[in-house]
Amino acid sequence: MQEEELIAVLDRARQLGLLTERAEDLLWNALDDSETTVEALLMQWTARVEAFDAEPGHGAVELDEALQATTFILDEALQAAQDEPIAHKHPIHAALCTDRAYASSWLELCMRSPANWEPLEKRLRSLDPTSGCFDPTELGTEAGRDWVEVRVRLSPDAEWRALRLPAYAAHLVDGSQMWDPEASGTPAESTFWSDGTWSGSLVWDSAVHVVEFMLSDAMWRRRVRGACVLELGCGLALPGLVAHLLGARAVLLTDRRVITDMVGEAVAINSLPAETVRAFELDWAPGAAAPVLATHLGGGAPDVIVSCDCIFADLFDSNFLLLDVLSEIASPATAILLGFERRPGDGVERFFAQAAARGFRTTLRRRSQRVLVCELRLVR
Ligand SMILES: C[S@@+](CC[C@H](N)C(=O)[O-])C[C@H]1O[C@@H](n2cnc3c(N)ncnc32)[C@H](O)[C@@H]1O
Repeated sequence: MQEEELIAVLDRARQLGLLTERAEDLLWNALDDSETTVEALLMQWTARVEAFDAEPGHGAVELDEALQATTFILDEALQAAQDEPIAHKHPIHAALCTDRAYASSWLELCMRSPANWEPLEKRLRSLDPTSGCFDPTELGTEAGRDWVEVRVRLSPDAEWRALRLPAYAAHLVDGSQMWDPEASGTPAESTFWSDGTWSGSLVWDSAVHVVEFMLSDAMWRRRVRGACVLELGCGLALPGLVAHLLGARAVLLTDRRVITDMVGEAVAINSLPAETVRAFELDWAPGAAAPVLATHLGGGAPDVIVSCDCIFADLFDSNFLLLDVLSEIASPATAILLGFERRPGDGVERFFAQAAARGFRTTLRRRSQRVLVCELRLVR
């Protein structure tokens, strides 16, 4: 309870410019190291916020200067990520597609397919998700799908938790459009490939980095606990599902319909509480978020929004519909975590310029080769 109050006071302090994100990091880490207590911090920061309210300007940091420094760091990191050798393009994703597992001290991932199927990589290269699964009655069944085995550790000394995520495309392809090699020899036309929906049926590197950031960052672990978390373009929804394991009070997993149907299966297969973890369609378009806010958030804003690998102008949209949705859903109290991977033609610089113009302040949290994790806040 006191922790929730502390989060609220620190959010307010940040909005007022009394607290930088770096300072907040240090503060949560001090809590983790038992150098202070929630109670002490709550008293200290409540007093500061109240003093500021009584006498505006009191105790404020030089916000413009801090903002300039943050922007500079972000620009540098964006460029450095783009300059990384192309060999560093989604190494985790590539490993999973070629039957190699991924393992860190937080997370283990392994892609599995029915034994009689063509290897996933080969199916991807030939744009044929159904290979090995031509019987439409098998689609969506255990025999007719790939899946990802996940093991996650919620703290360095915690037990591993297991999740099984239905994955990849065979059961997402419209049966009536399925490629029957004996009939025509050509794949059926489908927007499945052209609009990028296929990409939601696999795990991408930025989702892995965001999950590891959430797990390893003391402030974010606390922020997620008890929060309402919304994931946009969730794909297999690894970050959202881990947020649930971390104690989020509500998790809303959104993407295009075929993808969220698959995520709904993951919720059921893993016996997660359907009233707390909900998967439903949110196809980005101006105005699309309003009914979601009304139905699932009671008209309020989520505490946290997560989105991974969704800034890709060439594939998804050059007008950054994602930004429209973020603007519609986020309030100044919403913490937004974006993970993305630099790719040629991704338009990421334009994305952040437009985000700044709409009042979002971006802070770089982590970079690993071509992948960046950033936090955004609406500041005006
Ligand atoms: C590269 S995948 C990333 C999936 C997952 N977040 C991850 O990182 O593993 C991009 C996701 O964005 C979704 N997406 C793209 N355009 C969208 C739109 N207009 N509305 C909703 N989702 C969209 C795709 O369906 C896909 O699931």
